[in-house]
Order: sequence, then structure tokens, then C-alpha cells
Amino acid sequence: MFAVYADQFSADDPVSVLQVGERPDPVAPDGWTTVTVRAASLNHHDLWSLKGVGLRQEALPMILGCDAAGLDEDGNEVVVHAVVNDPRWTGDDTLDPKRSILSERHQGTFAERVVVPARNVVAKPASLSFEEAACLPTAWLTAYRMLFTQGGLKAGDTVLVQGAGGGVATALITLGRAAGLRVLATSRDEAKRARALEIGAHEVFESGARLPVKVDAVMETVGRATWSHSVRALRPGGTIVISGTTSGAQLDDAELTRIFFLQLRVVGSTMGTSGELAALVNLLDTTGARPLVDRVLPMTQAREGFAAMAQGDLFGKIVFTR
Ligand SMILES: NC(=O)c1ccc[n+]([C@@H]2O[C@H](COP(=O)([O-])OP(=O)(O)OC[C@H]3O[C@@H](n4cnc5c(N)ncnc54)[C@H](OP(=O)(O)O)[C@@H]3O)[C@@H](O)[C@H]2O)c1
Repeated sequence: MFAVYADQFSADDPVSVLQVGERPDPVAPDGWTTVTVRAASLNHHDLWSLKGVGLRQEALPMILGCDAAGLDEDGNEVVVHAVVNDPRWTGDDTLDPKRSILSERHQGTFAERVVVPARNVVAKPASLSFEEAACLPTAWLTAYRMLFTQGGLKAGDTVLVQGAGGGVATALITLGRAAGLRVLATSRDEAKRARALEIGAHEVFESGARLPVKVDAVMETVGRATWSHSVRALRPGGTIVISGTTSGAQLDDAELTRIFFLQLRVVGSTMGTSGELAALVNLLDTTGARPLVDRVLPMTQAREGFAAMAQGDLFGKIVFTR
């Protein structure tokens, strides 16, 4: 079948080692199901994989892609949950020490077909297109858990979203607004700040700018470049939820004094559960909020999408269709 995959790594030029071609048809083990992919979306994770981060040499060749929407074996429209658990695991999907996400241990979604555990499909409502639904399982699910589970935010609270142009960040802005939060956002780029306002931010600021208010929570995916600003933006007792470190994970100043003195909380967040994915789908169905799609490309042109992400030349999600 057609697939977009990695068969080697390049830390310096990941897009140059991307393979677009044929891979063997997947075979569903007992208890797994085959989904025919109609749309799949790109995440920063896919670039990390080509760099050899989070993907082992022994697992190559590996079809990339964590996110997909498509048709199950009975022709039902479904969204694929990307977190694959150990079959014996019964708790929160994201706390399973043996969990992986598609394209780490099991072949990913940038292909005609993907096999997943039968419990890893969630019904897609007709109100969401395949392209929109394909944005949800990684970036949007991560944003949902950050805001509502780990951040504990509720209508009326104020949240700061760092790095407004990113896939997770645009999801945080749209979901935060849909849920009645006051949403502040930062971006280095003026055009991205303007777009952040269009998708629901109440106010936007240059990265690192002084804010007019202290916020209840900050949503971090940028890391090193914005960490200090995030700590300083919080009210006493506020919370930073962090799910990524795009600009690096080494800090010059972790702001530890401020963290203990103002009794701040720093909470990690990774992906989400299938229950949270179903709740996210319901939230979009009910509110009419929709993922922001930067561009839709046929999967055969995946290289173009990877190159745009590598250059940071995007606002919202890049979606591949079959
Ligand atoms: N833990 C999880 O479950 C999970 C799930 C999804 C993603 N992630 C992680 O979250 C991060 C974001 O993922 P994504 O797919 O949203 O990536 P992305 O679309 O590439 O977004 C990255 C954003 O970070 C900002 N940024 C990058 N370098 C910066 C710098 N030096 N200074 C200020 N801002 C900078 C940019 O915002 P502006 O250009 O607007 O300033 C950019 O739009 C990645 O590290 C990814 O691995 C984690």
C-alpha cells in the first residue's frame, strides 16, 4: 500500500530522509481493527521521528503519522485514538508505562490503512469533516487535557497560550474560547498574532511582553524561549501546564524562587485518554468550534507539508488526504 515513512534518521535535515512509496499491507492482530485512512494530520512529533527522537533504529522502517480519521471495517466514520496501551493496562491511558503512540512502536497513519486496537476508535460525528477530525487525536487531544484535566480551568478563568502559531497552541486558543475562558496569546510574529485574534484569542502580545493581568494558568509548548515569561505571568497559586519544549528544554533560569514563593504549580501533560478524545469530539460537535487547518495536501505531497513545518511556516494543522 502507499505510505509515508522513515527508514533512516537525520538530525540536521530530517525532511531529506522522508520516504514516500510502498509498504506492506498491515495485518490486524487479534483484538485489533483496520481503519481505511481518509485524512491524517502532521505533528511536530513526525519531524522529531525523522530526527531519531522518540523512534528507535530497530523499529525502522516506520510509517509516520499519529493522527487519522477514516472508515472502520464496517464502513463507520471514526477518529483514531493514537495512544496504544499494553493490553493488560486498565488505568488512565496516558499513565501506562508501556504506552506508545502510533508511529513509535506500531506503524503510523500516513498510509492507505492503519491497524489499531479495537478500543482505539471513537465515532466521528457527521458535523466534522474527515480533515477536521484528523486534526484531533494528538494536538487537539493534548490541548484538551492541558486545559481541562491538568489545568482544571473553567469558564471565566484567564489562560495564557505561548507560541500562538503552533498546532497545539491554535487548539488551545480555539478550545479555550469555546469553553468560556479569557484567552491571552503570544507569538513572535505579527501576522500570527492577528490570526490568533481571528480564531478566538481575546488579546495577543509579542513573545515576552508584559501582560496587563496575571493569569490563572499558562499553557506551555515552547519551553526554553518562553519559560521565564510563563512563570512571571502567573497569579499566586497559578499553574503552568507543559506538554512540549519546541525551542529547547535547557533553562538558564528555572525561576525556582518565584515558583515556591508564589506557590505555583508546574504540571506535565501528555496526549489524553480515549474518553477525553470522545469528550473533545462532543465539545466540537456541540459548540461548532473547529480545528484550524493551515493547508490540505494529498498524502503523495507529504514532503511539502514536512518542509513547511520544519521552517515553522504554518498556522494551524497540515492535513494529508487519501
Ligand atoms: N506531550 C504531548 O502529548 C504532545 C503532543 C503534541 C505536541 N507536543 C509537543 O508540543 C510542541 C508543539 O507541537 P506542535 O505540533 O504544536 O508544534 P508547532 O506547530 O511546530 O508549534 C511550535 C510553536 O512554537 C513556537 N516557537 C518555536 N520556537 C520558538 C521560539 N524560539 N520562541 C518563541 N516561540 C517559539 C512557535 O510559535 P510562534 O511562531 O507563534 O511564536 C511555533 O508556532 C512540540 O514540542 C511537540 O513535540 C507534545
